[in-house]
Amino acid sequence: MVFAGQTVVAQPVHVQQLLKLKHQAMQQQKAIQPQAHPIEGGLQCGHVITIKGTVVMSNGTRFAVNFQTGYSGNDIAFHFNPRFEEDGYVVCNTKQKGHWGQEERTMRNPFQMGKPFEICILVESTSFQVMVNGDRFVQYKHRVPFHCVDNVFVPGPVGLTHIDVNGPVYYA
Ligand code: GAL
Repeated sequence: MVFAGQTVVAQPVHVQQLLKLKHQAMQQQKAIQPQAHPIEGGLQCGHVITIKGTVVMSNGTRFAVNFQTGYSGNDIAFHFNPRFEEDGYVVCNTKQKGHWGQEERTMRNPFQMGKPFEICILVESTSFQVMVNGDRFVQYKHRVPFHCVDNVFVPGPVGLTHIDVNGPVYYA
């Protein structure tokens, strides 16, 4: 609004750009808060977990999907860990009482910074089946009883739009 006798000075372009950058940084800050989702009654065979979001452009080079017991980060039945390092790869592992086991690496990263993704994880009796953007990506054999898992936690530079635990779904 302009009042009579008032001089309106437009903000110089660089100030507008700085404000825009500050706004973007604040948005990113919001998006990179780790987010956890409880699994009522523990994980069961036939459960399908769907996670949708976008990898935020940032200095962070890794995010993870952790199927864990409690929130200490010491007991993770399944750690699914895409890394944007070297040519990109994904680490799968299990952490028991604070100790990591042996890594299983897939030397390909199907995620892209700034791009939306959908991860769909099916809990089978012997393994976790992971689909990324509709394609089968990796299978991870259970090392610990999966019914102890009571939440899914997604740390890292990811803006989540959707975490959904469905099922259990039984197949004939
Ligand atoms: C470690 C890393 C952890 C986890 C683990 C998996 O080197 O610090 O965050 O990704 O590898 O084996």
